[in-house]
Amino acid sequence: MTEAAASDQSLEGRVAWASPSNIALIKYWGKHGVQLPRNPSVSLTLSQCATTTEIIYKPSAGDLSFDFEFEGRPHPAFEARVGTYLSAMTAEIPMLDRLHLSIRSSNSFPHSSGIASSASAFSALALCLCSIDHAINHNLSEDQTYRRKASRLARLGSGSAARSIYAHAALWGKSGTIEGSSDDYAVAVGQDIDKVFTTYRDAILIVDQGAKSTSSSAGHQLMNEHPYANERYNQARLHMSQIMEAMRTGDLKRFVELVEIEAMQLHAMMMCSRPYYLLLSPNSIKIINLIREFRKSTQIPVCFTIDAGPNIHLLYPADDQAPVQVFIKDVLVPYCQAGMWIDDFVGLGPQQQE
Ligand code: DP6
Repeated sequence: MTEAAASDQSLEGRVAWASPSNIALIKYWGKHGVQLPRNPSVSLTLSQCATTTEIIYKPSAGDLSFDFEFEGRPHPAFEARVGTYLSAMTAEIPMLDRLHLSIRSSNSFPHSSGIASSASAFSALALCLCSIDHAINHNLSEDQTYRRKASRLARLGSGSAARSIYAHAALWGKSGTIEGSSDDYAVAVGQDIDKVFTTYRDAILIVDQGAKSTSSSAGHQLMNEHPYANERYNQARLHMSQIMEAMRTGDLKRFVELVEIEAMQLHAMMMCSRPYYLLLSPNSIKIINLIREFRKSTQIPVCFTIDAGPNIHLLYPADDQAPVQVFIKDVLVPYCQAGMWIDDFVGLGPQQQE
């Protein structure tokens, strides 16, 4: 059916998705053009940290209009970002211009955790918009077409959101070594990895729940004039090929080494940008050192990674859950703010909601 042929009745309905956050192993840091990455990034898709978004749509009186609630209340800051995003989306889905959207969104993780997940939020929203597009235009029946469009639209909201669309693991960014890879959208790589990674666990250790002093957007911006930017992008490309090989063969030793060097390079970039800044806190460093000591003394292949903040993600195989959780509770929790940590794991990706 063409858009013009869609009756007013077909312009009414409800869609809902729950979409998880993801944790980058190879970091996206630096962008150009319209949300295009400077280097490919690779992530594990999480389960417990998710955003559920519901949209009830109906014909609008004029152009696109919307109302928005986050966890049952108005949230002016999120609403403004959603408004800017939706205006851009009318170029992608012209039918939106004829709709009013009532958007209700909530996160599964506590407000107080300080985890602001633009990845889960924008992937859930993009999936809802694709469902509306498909309900009206019947244009996205094929799963790959649907997911690629959702990933591309999610990317336009927040780069890392492009990777949340797939089960287990995703890669975003053009790479000569990964067939089908693109700067426009992420692709699934879960089918290419050893099964140990499909049940990997991620303990998110909340070191500081406060707002970040420098946002990710500002950090990406600083890469444009960064003295080491090109070398960083080369390193990320190299690490991407190496980690894909390590994940394909189940080489945990290599995986641990690459994941940690990526986290440290990300923060090293922040520490030598102009102006420089530092997001790690003393407890982040304490936890990093304790993780390294635990690995050395037990030979359990735990490793850490860090996003653009002070919180530490402790990654480990599901088979090692019992001793690692004792270590977390007895040794690491005292360094977490209010003892807070989130027991997350690799999952199946976004789920459509009834
Ligand atoms: C450090 O996706 O938050 O988490 O595209 O500006 O929304 P925008 O940036 P964002 O950057 C994430 C950076 C990172 C690394 C990563 O997830 O790859």
